[in-house]
Amino acid sequence: MKIINNKKSLNPHDFLKELSICCDKTNSHLRRLLPPKSEQKLYDAINYAIFSGGKRFRAFLVIQAAKLFEIPVVRALQAASAIEIIHTYSLVHDDLPSMDNDDFRRGKPTIHIKWDEATAVLVGDALQAFAYQILSFEETHPKSEVRLNLIRTLSEASGLKGMVLGQSKDLEAEKNSKSLELKDIINLQKLKTGALFNWSLKSANILAEQNHDSLEKYADSIGLAFQIKDDLLDHEGTMEQTGKKVGKDNAAGKATLVSLLGVENAKKRCLELCEEACDSLDFFGTKSEILKTAARFTIERGF
Ligand code: IPE
Ligand code: IPE
Ligand code: MG
Ligand code: MG
Ligand code: MG
Repeated sequence: MKIINNKKSLNPHDFLKELSICCDKTNSHLRRLLPPKSEQKLYDAINYAIFSGGKRFRAFLVIQAAKLFEIPVVRALQAASAIEIIHTYSLVHDDLPSMDNDDFRRGKPTIHIKWDEATAVLVGDALQAFAYQILSFEETHPKSEVRLNLIRTLSEASGLKGMVLGQSKDLEAEKNSKSLELKDIINLQKLKTGALFNWSLKSANILAEQNHDSLEKYADSIGLAFQIKDDLLDHEGTMEQTGKKVGKDNAAGKATLVSLLGVENAKKRCLELCEEACDSLDFFGTKSEILKTAARFTIERGF
């Protein structure tokens, strides 16, 4: 990772080490929460979907934002697990033949390829319900109103005015991507990807019973940058890097900033969003260094 502005940040090696530590902690927590692999096909497929090597970047954001408020680790891990479970469900459904029709995810065959479509639909259904169940556990927060607030806001972020609406717009746009303007594509991407990023930071606010707009501004900037970078990786990355087939957005006629503005302008937009994200965190001083480095990771990552 290069340093792209003069604001203080962690060195790339330390950042990747911290990302990997958060990933391990989240995976251990998820193993405790989820039913183990068994003769049940559903549990086998759920374990395959969850433990297939995701970056756990949304969990990382929850954990790091929670540190700003000294929130007990187990509470952060409950929220981190819930968002990763919703994210994984969204990917299992996103890969279905009726959606993006992808055979590979995280370097492995997708659920509908390894099992069948019905299993992929049911894995997604079960994961979605389980995320809310996790948030309802007392371990998440002793106050029921805090737990309810987490459940309400996550259902807003993931559902009919959030990620699912974005996914619907994404598929609609395939048929007439030419008619979409910049603001429409940005709106679509804010919904399909940004809403879950927003919740990752919002969850720390809720657990701390705080309301720092700056954290959610940061989330909105990196959420959009993350999707533009994903689209850039689809355009110019490799399957070895990303663990999924590339060149698919163009073939499907997806509406992306890369298709509308071209590669160079899409990269420029990523840089601007990264700067905006870092500026939003100035209030937190040196405590926010790791989140500032995460903003750079968002746009410089190769995976
Ligand atoms: C991929 O997300 C889907 C997008 C929203 C772009 P990630 O790149 O975070 O996927 P994993 O969880 O690391 O596999
Ligand atoms: C995925 O966007 C967004 C969600 C799953 C909500 P993409 O369709 O671009 O993600 P990839 O490239 O398949 O991971
Ligand atoms: Mg998609
Ligand atoms: Mg896809
Ligand atoms: Mg993509």
